[in-house]
Amino acid sequence: MYQEIFSKYTPTKDNLIYILHDIQDSDPQHYISEEAVQAISEYLNLPANHIYGVITFYSMYSTTPRGKNIIRLCESPHCYIKGSENILRKMKNSLNVGVGETTKDGVFTLELCACLGVCGNAPVMMINDDVYGDLTEDKVDDILAKLREVK
Ligand code: FES
Repeated sequence: MYQEIFSKYTPTKDNLIYILHDIQDSDPQHYISEEAVQAISEYLNLPANHIYGVITFYSMYSTTPRGKNIIRLCESPHCYIKGSENILRKMKNSLNVGVGETTKDGVFTLELCACLGVCGNAPVMMINDDVYGDLTEDKVDDILAKLREVK
């Protein structure tokens, strides 16, 4: 199941984060399963606890299933000053989830993240690979509605 990904990388420890990225990206629920960790452990000849250590160090990795769209709202100071708290409250209400949770329909997972490097457009969030800036509560409604329409 993971052979196609493994075949792209030599079995060295240096390739661990690339393999984790590919495995998470290829999973429809955007996470790294226990089964995947076991397979990586065997391929790289690394203990599973070392792999879990790397997964938990980087906030972009998850060991729990997530939604189709992963929202990462920046909680760093510039975005905070520009109102990210209001955006967070709006999203929690609209999606009926807390931080780290996935909507019942599996469409959205709400997460927080550190600075996304586009502070000039604060408040900012990323959804999957797309960045959305200058957020307002109305803009958030539009963005979420559009993503709900995408099948
Ligand atoms: S502080 Fe939010 S993008 Fe930099």
